[in-house]
Amino acid sequence: MSTFSLDDFIKTHWKKTPATFTVPSSPVAPEHLMLVLARVFERLTNPETMEAAATKLVRFYVDGRQIAAPEYAAFLPTGGSVDEYSATLTERLKGARFGIVINDAHSLLPEAWPAVLAFTAPLIERVGIPAKNVETAIFIGTYAATPFGIHRDLGNSVFTFPVIGRKKFLLWPPDHFAADLLQIYLNPDPSQYVSTATTLVVEPGELSYWPEDWMHVGWDPEAKLHAAFSIGTWSEAQQATQMSELIQSILEKKLPPSYRTEWPSTAELPNELNEAATLLEEAFRTGEFRRALEEQWSRRRERAGFRT
Ligand SMILES: [Fe+2]
Repeated sequence: MSTFSLDDFIKTHWKKTPATFTVPSSPVAPEHLMLVLARVFERLTNPETMEAAATKLVRFYVDGRQIAAPEYAAFLPTGGSVDEYSATLTERLKGARFGIVINDAHSLLPEAWPAVLAFTAPLIERVGIPAKNVETAIFIGTYAATPFGIHRDLGNSVFTFPVIGRKKFLLWPPDHFAADLLQIYLNPDPSQYVSTATTLVVEPGELSYWPEDWMHVGWDPEAKLHAAFSIGTWSEAQQATQMSELIQSILEKKLPPSYRTEWPSTAELPNELNEAATLLEEAFRTGEFRRALEEQWSRRRERAGFRT
């Protein structure tokens, strides 16, 4: 395994082939993981953030099935290390395998941000700012296979830094299953496809990469505790979604959070809708929308493509 060098990586692997490298360090250290879990539960127990946290920030899995709020308590952080936490959690789950996926992990971990930026900024400088965004995730678990199975992430080229334990991925070129996609639903067990897979195995101090659209699954029948930090660069964007989100953020500053009312069924617009339309028209007429877009763009440039 060679040491990661940006020049060689871009020349040989970027958007071409999976690879593994050694690296001086991972942006996320083992001691960050309990901090992140504590912060996840802070979000889940704050009335302002609980819904967003449960839908966008974190997913918990028990024996491959995603669980909901009534079972969250089992995952409450305990102990001083992820090893202790994993042991307690496994006991609470009566031996079941668990998985935790935390999206946008860097937003919960300002401690790791300088290192995340140190890796990402030079890369983005060379390859450009991905049209959708750059984002991070943390995966912690004792699961043998990624709970959501063999899948692809359209437009997403992924870097994975193991934090604890070994990570093993099976990968296939984007069109490998295309002729018979039904097979991954009928026979989802990754072990059936090992013979055709490119296998990547990495440990702390190493880094794995696969190009966008490659079919992939984390798979390791040994299933000891493993934790990894990943950086995904999403090059495929839905422009309409991005624009709508910006319009939404402008309107959220101007409109009350919600109305509770019934409107008379008359031909003319109710006052509140009329007011909302006027605010929106003004945002375009005065250049406010364009300025917001320019500000967002300059922030993305400063933050190496990260939008959060
Ligand atoms: Fe994925």
